[in-house]
Amino acid sequence: MKKIKKITCIGAGYVGGPTMSVIAQKNPEIQVTVVDLNEQRIAAWNNDNLDLLPIYEPGLDEVIKEARGRNLFFSTEVNKAIDEADVIFISVNTPTKTYGKGKGQAADLKFIELCARQIAAISTSDKIVVEKSTLPVRTAEALKSILDNTGNGVNFHILSNPEFLAEGTAIADLHAPDRVLIGGENAEAIEALVNVYNSWVPRERILTTNLWSSELSKLVANAFLAQRVSSINSISELCEVTGANVDEVAYAIGHDSRIGSKFLKASVGFGGSCFQKDILNLVYIARSYHLNEVADYWEQVILMNDHQKTRFAENIIQTMYNTVNGKKIVFLGWAFKKDTNDTRESAAIYVADHLLDEEATLVVYDPKVTENQIYSDLNYLGTRTSLENSRLVTVTKDPYEAFKDAHAVAILTEWDEFKAFDWAKIKQIMKKPAFVFDGRKLLHKGHMEAIGFQYYAIGE
Ligand code: NAD
Ligand code: UGA
Repeated sequence: MKKIKKITCIGAGYVGGPTMSVIAQKNPEIQVTVVDLNEQRIAAWNNDNLDLLPIYEPGLDEVIKEARGRNLFFSTEVNKAIDEADVIFISVNTPTKTYGKGKGQAADLKFIELCARQIAAISTSDKIVVEKSTLPVRTAEALKSILDNTGNGVNFHILSNPEFLAEGTAIADLHAPDRVLIGGENAEAIEALVNVYNSWVPRERILTTNLWSSELSKLVANAFLAQRVSSINSISELCEVTGANVDEVAYAIGHDSRIGSKFLKASVGFGGSCFQKDILNLVYIARSYHLNEVADYWEQVILMNDHQKTRFAENIIQTMYNTVNGKKIVFLGWAFKKDTNDTRESAAIYVADHLLDEEATLVVYDPKVTENQIYSDLNYLGTRTSLENSRLVTVTKDPYEAFKDAHAVAILTEWDEFKAFDWAKIKQIMKKPAFVFDGRKLLHKGHMEAIGFQYYAIGE
């Protein structure tokens, strides 16, 4: 296999953008082009003002500054980039199907198939095609069939190279990954991709497997991670009725090296574009092989997560004398976790929806999420008209203005800046009793109670 000179990535999203930026940063001799159909997104990636990149990720601006224009390019010329490339990463979205067979569970592979057909139609030289998107196990089989049957007689080698970065720490994760996983059948193609990563990732951290193990491992990794969050969240409810403290329980069990301390933070529920989608997909795959017990087992992780979000909203209503009608509740945070502007499947959306059903008045403050995004998340649910959403929900960039005469504050995202707020001042300007519902266990109960808040945290 000849040395890789040009890489193209289809999909300039939360994965394609950062991943390719780091590959380009660490391989200055390789030309990396990231293409997307979305012209606005590509224009934002090319913006001179690095504050206006389409995604917020700590450290991303530095990487872009170093590589963009040198050997990293963002473009809408998909066909040209496909034709020129030695390696093509497919990094498009694979959302849960919203129609037809598998609706609500299976992954929608229409964007993947479109990419495969386009690669086949355009390519006039041999290519390595890399699955970077998260895909159902055995998708490579379908890809190979499309590429071989609709192509121009050139050779395609398919590799699976799932991405394990987490948003908010994407650049750190890419710079020092626990592992890179490459699945494939052709040893030369595998070696070529290993060499790209080996520019900065130690060889022993680059794992190679067969295609199906690699595809399946991605779904399983997310399922195991989400399972830990649902497990600790289930215990948070038990802590609340027994006087145990879920942070202390997590601390105690996490010291067992077999359990480990990470991913044991109880919360209002996990969000993000992938945990729910990928577990639903795993459940769907298991059921399609008639493995009903396996499917039921993993489905429970999602059911527990839904319960946690509902429970948080219900607790707000019950504590505030069983009615929130007309009451002003300040939402701190809308993103699904700190240090990202991504709101996909954020718990905040579902908690808000529940409280809006009860006619609460919400004021939302998030340091990185735009007003448009917040309304679009609520409108997407289709539970009320956009007019009703804009009547009941206000978005602010000045949280202190929002706290005035508020009945309650609900913390939905663990942004560091919320810890530094002047909570004594906030207590003064809120209505009394002043309630704080901490869905992230961000603040200190003793301190908040000493100020005079009625303070409720998950799992305490
Ligand atoms: P995204 O929606 O942010 O980005 C996908 C991009 O692909 C969009 O900009 C879209 O316009 C583009 N696209 C779709 N079809 C196209 C086509 N035919 N030609 C050109 N562009 C096209 O999605 P994402 O969050 O980057 O996720 C991409 C994949 O990576 C998914 O499979 C996801 O499960 C997986 N993944 C995501 C994360 C994460 O943290 N977001 C982490 C690991 C894996
Ligand atoms: C997750 C995985 O961590 C990545 O390895 C994977 O690549 C990615 O999904 C993906 O496939 O998309 P991400 O969703 O970006 O990454 O963020 P996480 O840090 O995993 O957090 C997910 C959700 O779980 C967040 O809402 C977070 O607040 C919540 N969480 C996480 C908890 O409530 N408690 C924890 O202890 C950890």
